[in-house]
Amino acid sequence: MSQPDNHSRGPWIGIAVGALLAGVLVGFLIGSPAKKESPGLRAAAPTPAFQALPVERGDYHAKGPLAMPEYFRGVYLDLAKMSLTDLLYEDNPEGIKARITGKDWPSRAVTMIGLKRLNNIQACAEDVLLNGVPGDFIEAGVWRGGATIFMKAVLREYGDTSRTVWVADSFEGVPPPSPDKYPSDKDSKLNQYAMLAVSIEKVRANFERFGLLDDRVRFLKGWFKDTLGTAPIKNLAILRLDGDLYESTMDTLNPLYPKLSPGGYCIVDDYFNLSAQKEAVDKYRAEHGITEEIHQIDWAGAYWQKRE
Ligand SMILES: C[S@@+](CC[C@H](N)C(=O)[O-])C[C@H]1O[C@@H](n2cnc3c(N)ncnc32)[C@H](O)[C@@H]1O
Repeated sequence: MSQPDNHSRGPWIGIAVGALLAGVLVGFLIGSPAKKESPGLRAAAPTPAFQALPVERGDYHAKGPLAMPEYFRGVYLDLAKMSLTDLLYEDNPEGIKARITGKDWPSRAVTMIGLKRLNNIQACAEDVLLNGVPGDFIEAGVWRGGATIFMKAVLREYGDTSRTVWVADSFEGVPPPSPDKYPSDKDSKLNQYAMLAVSIEKVRANFERFGLLDDRVRFLKGWFKDTLGTAPIKNLAILRLDGDLYESTMDTLNPLYPKLSPGGYCIVDDYFNLSAQKEAVDKYRAEHGITEEIHQIDWAGAYWQKRE
């Protein structure tokens, strides 16, 4: 093995270290929120895996105000979404399409809501963080936990240690319909699907796999009607509803919507997909004079921002 030639390397090492430090400094300045318009970094942000997907550019990058310029944060969150949806390893074209649009109950993915609705969570979360809208984040109806894991990932990437992510579910699946009380649910058979019953231990383990389980992740186990009204939640910046039924949607909105801060987001996973969920949301909005515009996320999801 030949000896390193220290004399001839010395100046080159100095130049390389200098260039590296200058690069880090320039990267820091370009990447700071104050310098959002940086064509170099904006162009570099999508990971190659995302570039290979058959989606529009706007679909794979959430349109949150800091998503693009914050290069490393964007890469991590993109990778988290790829992993949570199982897009990293899915090689069946139909499976890829379903993972992007959230159109199936995937065998391995930690969430069934798909890439576009994860992007919506990111955009809403970044908006409330950037604008200082106070409150915790909650999803009522978490299944394997993926959407709440992603909420926690965004909080971590923005260095937020004050907000709690509330993870609310029976962890036993969807309740049987109560047609006398809730006629809109009368045809639901969702309670018969064992696949929808994911234990709290499994969801906890999923958080751990992503390195995102800490004491700011809190679990509310039980039927929404029993847990959400008494949960020690002060206020919310994101309220995400994914309980599918009319009953589950009402049992979430009634105790929690009044706790949503002005400027916060109410996200309804199946507003355009499940008529029972839409009926509950429309009724609640009408009864409480909520007139904020409903925005469509994709074929299923919707959200609105609570008026300031
Ligand atoms: C469609 S899955 C949620 C999907 C999840 N958001 C994701 O990211 O993949 C519906 C979940 O809601 C839960 N659920 C529905 N109604 C409920 C209720 N009334 N109380 C507690 N959990 C409920 C079910 O246990 C199930 O985990």
